[in-house]
Amino acid sequence: MKILVVGQGGREHALVWKLSFDKEIELFCTPGNGGICEDAKCSVLTNIQDILNFAVREKIDLTVVGPEIYLANGIVDEFEKHGLKVFGPNKKAAMIESSKVFAKLLMSKYNIPTAKFEVFDNQIDAQKYLCKIDTPIVVKADGLAAGKGAIVAKSKKDAYKAIDDIMNKKIFGEAGNKVIIEEFLQGKEVSVLAFCDGKTVIPMVSSMDYKRACDNDRGPNTGGMGAIAPCPYYSKETAEYVYHRILTKTVKALQDEGIEYKGVLYAGLMITKDGPKVLEFNCRFGDPETQVILMLLKNNLVEILQATVEGSLNNRSIKWSDEKAVCVVLVSGGYPDSYKTGFEISGLKSIEKDVVIFHAGTKKVDEKILTNGGRVLNICAKSQSYEQARKVVYDAIKNIYFENMYYRKDIALNLYR
Ligand code: AMP
Ligand code: GLY
Repeated sequence: MKILVVGQGGREHALVWKLSFDKEIELFCTPGNGGICEDAKCSVLTNIQDILNFAVREKIDLTVVGPEIYLANGIVDEFEKHGLKVFGPNKKAAMIESSKVFAKLLMSKYNIPTAKFEVFDNQIDAQKYLCKIDTPIVVKADGLAAGKGAIVAKSKKDAYKAIDDIMNKKIFGEAGNKVIIEEFLQGKEVSVLAFCDGKTVIPMVSSMDYKRACDNDRGPNTGGMGAIAPCPYYSKETAEYVYHRILTKTVKALQDEGIEYKGVLYAGLMITKDGPKVLEFNCRFGDPETQVILMLLKNNLVEILQATVEGSLNNRSIKWSDEKAVCVVLVSGGYPDSYKTGFEISGLKSIEKDVVIFHAGTKKVDEKILTNGGRVLNICAKSQSYEQARKVVYDAIKNIYFENMYYRKDIALNLYR
């Protein structure tokens, strides 16, 4: 069987790694990175038409899409038109992530718990509205903004500026044609991803992303500086509630709107004192959550992906290890703002075998691995306790070096506080 993974991050390396346990599979990836090219045949293709032509030519049996941008641009619709199997939601269903306004209106229509909000399509009305409310509040661009589209404003002045930046200066381009102004929620954040085949929803083990750049959750938001699974704050009762009141209700709501949701539905939740509420939905696997989630998955991944695409998840039981998984992301100094790349990475060969390294922003040049992005490597381990997994990861990091390397020191530290 031939499988093509689309993307180039740590998430895609984790997908390739997990799929590579099945020796019947021939793996391809586009564009891939310096680590993925050890496990899969990589081709540097970036537009949907070229990827489609490649899949047809190579007779790919299943394509798995990582990044949201391809899904939002209709890669699934194009593949399905040509009779090819592809894992992920179609363009309409991907709107759950590509339009925050669409997602919020859906939640409000179907009574799915989320922060109170208002939608604005012009700057004057949005800024006028600030007179009526208290801060902190959150200003969000409607469209895709590489994870940076939500701005928490502590004061009205900050909120005023956020609206100006998004709607007038267009810092996120067209994504800022509309904004949402929403209630600021307090609590613990958890990422809950689920496989959905249009009807059946099977949640994965819960996880927690460390979004801020610096220790103790300070500094700017990033794509994710680390992750752990399971999330220690996610109780069985909360999971029951999320399954019924959020995940299945959302898939059913989409169905009632004439939209079939297939692929991964990722709910970013805040567990507030009034219960879990949706911060955002993503239409794909999370990064770096996927890295820790897949380390705990006991099943053969391809069987689940196929069942999702074929609509037969109701016959499946998905099993998770009861261990704890920890991932620390090594980044280029300066990330998420500007940073330099092209530095050689050393120490990757001296890693203990209980450590798993997923490459993100790397490339291989003449047998050397060079940095090639903001998030560079994901150092992961699992163990019976968070403490032990954390120790294995941070011990491994002591061996790895590249110029300007930076990482958070507090991943999986001080849990339960
Ligand atoms: P989003 O892109 O909507 O997931 O937002 C990115 C991050 O901003 C979230 O992970 C939260 O940390 C924060 N955030 C978003 N919405 C809210 C909210 N309503 N209240 C508090 N924090 C929020
Ligand atoms: N780690 C957050 C995301 O994948 O969107």
